Amino acid sequence: MPAFDVQQFRQQFTFFQQQPDWVYLDNAATMHKPQVVIEAVTRFYQQYNSNVHRGAHQLSQQATALFEQARNTVASYINAQHLHEVIFCSGATAALNQIAFGLMHTVLQPGDRILLTQLEHHANIVPWQLHCQRFGVIIDVVPLTTDHQLDMLAYQQLLQLKPKVVSFSHISNVLGHIQPVAEMVALAKAAGAITVVDGAQGIVYQQPDMQQLDCDFYVFSGHKLYGPTGIGVLYGKTTQLTRLTPIFAGGEMIDSVSFVNTTFNKLPFRLEAGTPNIAGAIGLSAAIEWLQKINNKQIVQHKLLLLKEFYNGLTAIKGIDILSSSVHNAGIVALNVDSEHPADVAELLNQQKIAVRSGQHCAMPLFSYLARPGAIRCSFAAYNTLDDVNRCLLALEQAVEILTA
Ligand SMILES: Cc1ncc(COP(=O)(O)O)c(C=O)c1O
Repeated sequence: MPAFDVQQFRQQFTFFQQQPDWVYLDNAATMHKPQVVIEAVTRFYQQYNSNVHRGAHQLSQQATALFEQARNTVASYINAQHLHEVIFCSGATAALNQIAFGLMHTVLQPGDRILLTQLEHHANIVPWQLHCQRFGVIIDVVPLTTDHQLDMLAYQQLLQLKPKVVSFSHISNVLGHIQPVAEMVALAKAAGAITVVDGAQGIVYQQPDMQQLDCDFYVFSGHKLYGPTGIGVLYGKTTQLTRLTPIFAGGEMIDSVSFVNTTFNKLPFRLEAGTPNIAGAIGLSAAIEWLQKINNKQIVQHKLLLLKEFYNGLTAIKGIDILSSSVHNAGIVALNVDSEHPADVAELLNQQKIAVRSGQHCAMPLFSYLARPGAIRCSFAAYNTLDDVNRCLLALEQAVEILTA
């Protein structure tokens, strides 16, 4: 396999042309956008701007065609069986809220159980919790092993409690660990559960195949896949989507309304209330089309190389507490400098134009479990270089010297 040409890839991002000094290692928060995505969004506003589905005029028809083409691009990228199984929403958070709310009103009964894991993002905890108390539903949590991987034995034991829903992330946004999603979905299905995969970090690591994975729901945000912010996808099997009570009402999701009764439109519109993020969907589609021209195996190899160099460098620096394991890692590393506050470390890096995130990364239960107040998180993308890795390592070495002097 030919090596990945990182410089050629990087050139496609105007940000790096205009801001060559920045080492951007905050990719798990959001990724930079290639010029093709920026142009697709701009072109929409300059040439086609119009609302979708409703207008009698040509502009609206063109906007509708572009929007529905975007749905098509997403559906074929994730190999959904039907176009209407792709619901556009504002992101993974919105999608998870829709699923939790929707199932709570239709499927879940008092005394039912939901199974989550210790390393979930708040977006995959709180929406469930918000409704569980009211509906009398119980949450169980899969613990981690000593190397901070999911405890699969405990997972299987908890499945024996017959949860109605099992919801877990494809890749941990803090530790970067890749979960054995296919195995987890298969086990959950065998236990009779509805399966929800939070693909917010998984979507950029590998192209997910809904037919192979066979989960009931898979959600992700466009901005973590080189696309715009404010657009995301709720994929669901038709049978499961039909069971969801809509969280929002109005607009295209309506079939008929009277003060006595309302009937709803068919999927996907039933779950897309109000004017959708048309430009966002078009931008996401442009990102996917662009990504499909690049060999993902090369990208995975490139990120593995960065990760290896980063780990080698980190282990040579005294005083670094690495929380992430280097195995089954998608390119996200959480770490601390001794017991120093992560915000201080991140600020020292920021002063050298190295962008990392610090804090608890919307995963407080994970940090309680890890018994750490937080961490800095370095997350790599395909446009990062070995030079980025070395600059970050050097800055961390200096941070150790400054903070522990
Ligand atoms: C694993 C995971 N789930 C959910 C989310 C929420 O995504 P968004 O804020 O784009 O809705 C994130 C964002 O960081 C995430 O990493």
